Amino acid sequence: MTTSAHAATPLLTLDIRPLTGALGCEILGVDLARLDERTFAAIHRAWLDYSVVVFRDQELDEASFAAFGKRFGKLEDEPFLPNKTATPGIYFFKGAGGQKKLSVQNLGWHMDHSYQKNPSLGAMLYATNVPAAGGDTLFASSYLSYEYLSEPMKQFLAGKIAIHDVLHYGIESGHYAISSVKALQALAAQRERFPQVEHPLICTHPETGRKLLYINKGWTTAIKGLNPTESKAILDMLKAHSLQDRFQCRVRWYNKSLLLWDNRCVQHSPNVDYEAPREMLRLALHTDWIPG
Ligand SMILES: [Fe+2]
Repeated sequence: MTTSAHAATPLLTLDIRPLTGALGCEILGVDLARLDERTFAAIHRAWLDYSVVVFRDQELDEASFAAFGKRFGKLEDEPFLPNKTATPGIYFFKGAGGQKKLSVQNLGWHMDHSYQKNPSLGAMLYATNVPAAGGDTLFASSYLSYEYLSEPMKQFLAGKIAIHDVLHYGIESGHYAISSVKALQALAAQRERFPQVEHPLICTHPETGRKLLYINKGWTTAIKGLNPTESKAILDMLKAHSLQDRFQCRVRWYNKSLLLWDNRCVQHSPNVDYEAPREMLRLALHTDWIPG
């Protein structure tokens, strides 16, 4: 599949390989350290079209990784990552390896920063030292989650508001550290910093114009106006609906792979099925968009 032309100047045609029928693609034949404007415009279009984009065999350092991120927008802080690099906006990202294989699930399904008024625009990971196998990242399309709801359910959800709460982090998503007092204290501190926020359940993507079901397993905790039993039943149903296999893609990691996603329209989950170190560089992209 090739990128589509939007404006008077046709976009460059990239070598794009879709990952699944749902979302995601690999883009071949580009060097992210040396991008001209026309190539970047085509990558940006593919990012909007596929929501998840993977590049292989990229030779990047912290500076060139940051420079590629800044082409999409301003970089923002990541409250849950303690290890900053010397390059502003770039973090060391270390997985949960080193523990017994399959013993933990690190975080699980979520959308980055949905507990904030302005969730992240997107994020990028660049693999520097990853296991030979394991640690894949899974994605689910919020567009398809919306589109495959029944018409009566779409009507029921129209105008409904959901609560997003950072305190919920890890409880439903299965974070391994949630049982420790230290982890709960850390969560309480995050909650002080990020009070609950409200986002509509049905949103419209500000660039593609497509409607999407704006929920995530990690941080969407209640539907306003419903009683707790109703709210839990509907949210449990929507979370299960939104994470069906047919709405997903799965990204396998190799050293020097770069992964980019549109955080406005996907949930993602890092799979913990490895023991060896899993080390990456990470950045998050800021947006002024408020889900709506
Ligand atoms: Fe994340």
